[in-house]
Amino acid sequence: MKAVQHAAHGGPEVLEAVELPDPVAGPGEVLIAVEAVALNRLDALQRRGPGLLPGFALPHVPGMDVAGVVVAVGPAAPGSPPPARAVGDRVVVDPALHCGSCTACAAGDSVYCGAMRVVGGSRQGGYAELVAVPATHTHPVPAHVGPEEAASLPTAYSMAWQALVVRGGLRAGETLLVHGAGSGITVAAVQIARGLGARTVVTSGSEEKLRRMAKIGADAVLDHRVTDVAAATRELTGGHGADIVLDHVGPALFQTSLDALRRRGRLVFCGNTSGMTASFNLVDAYQRALTIIGSESYGHATFGEMLRWYWASGCEPVIDSVFPLEAAADAHRRLESGDACGKILLTP
Ligand SMILES: NC(=O)c1ccc[n+]([C@@H]2O[C@H](COP(=O)([O-])OP(=O)(O)OC[C@H]3O[C@@H](n4cnc5c(N)ncnc54)[C@H](OP(=O)(O)O)[C@@H]3O)[C@@H](O)[C@H]2O)c1
Ligand SMILES: [Zn+2]
Repeated sequence: MKAVQHAAHGGPEVLEAVELPDPVAGPGEVLIAVEAVALNRLDALQRRGPGLLPGFALPHVPGMDVAGVVVAVGPAAPGSPPPARAVGDRVVVDPALHCGSCTACAAGDSVYCGAMRVVGGSRQGGYAELVAVPATHTHPVPAHVGPEEAASLPTAYSMAWQALVVRGGLRAGETLLVHGAGSGITVAAVQIARGLGARTVVTSGSEEKLRRMAKIGADAVLDHRVTDVAAATRELTGGHGADIVLDHVGPALFQTSLDALRRRGRLVFCGNTSGMTASFNLVDAYQRALTIIGSESYGHATFGEMLRWYWASGCEPVIDSVFPLEAAADAHRRLESGDACGKILLTP
């Protein structure tokens, strides 16, 4: 099969198109003909090096967010029923492969699986014509959804769902403030919040991206370079402030996030793009009874919950660009340019 891998760490040029032996569906697995695969920040981070996920090894075929068609079904895994998929099924992959048997998995807390492997993160991914994955981590794609839309969902929408719904407890009628219009998590957060009946305010340092966010459905957009975000958010909310802020930018906007909250508001954070350590005004935070909530990665059940919501939501996919598989290096350049708004996809 054709695939794109990197045998060394470095710039986008280390990504090379290669011929690899076709993978085989092992016990409990299905073999998928990849129709679309989305890029994630982790692809570029691990390409630059070092490998970040336990089990990462060179050469590495990236590609976590895969949609395609089942072309072979492996035998049943020992002690398990045969894989519940058939040749011809259209599927999307949950890339976080929990083991199902460690203490955390047995307790239904697969986020903290001690043997977690990630498709395209710590085992072969979807920058390829074929990928083999456990059938338990494939989900049927409805007929009205194309492979590019399906591949745009897994990581960004699961992370946003985990942060807003599971951890943040977002409710209809609330106002959500979210930073970073260039992030797939932000795009997903806006669609999820709107779908759940919340109002959304998005900040960015790019006017072009703010225009795109307004088109996607943000109720208000703020350029944080020239706007007092906290004051503007209060103005938009009858003087109160946001009920909930989703912050994955970290130190650069952390105090702004807290300042923009109403009394007893919630700050949910799930990333730290601008640095490792944030300091903030403790007195203000306790006097206004703010809640600061970390949001970890998502679990197996959350992925299914998010997909069921999305399929019924009527959301339009937000796709920045689509490249042929062989142009993976150009796709990485686009990702690292910071200019993208929406998912970047490869089609084998
Ligand atoms: N917890 C998890 O398991 C998990 C999983 C996935 C991702 N993440 C984290 O989530 C975060 C988002 O990831 P991503 O790949 O979607 O986005 P990203 O590329 O890291 O950043 C997206 C946007 O953040 C804004 N931004 C970056 N640096 C900034 C700064 N110094 N000041 C203000 N804004 C800044 C920019 O928005 P504008 O261009 O609009 O200004 C940028 O386009 C990352 O930190 C990532 O590590 C965590
Ligand atoms: Zn486990």
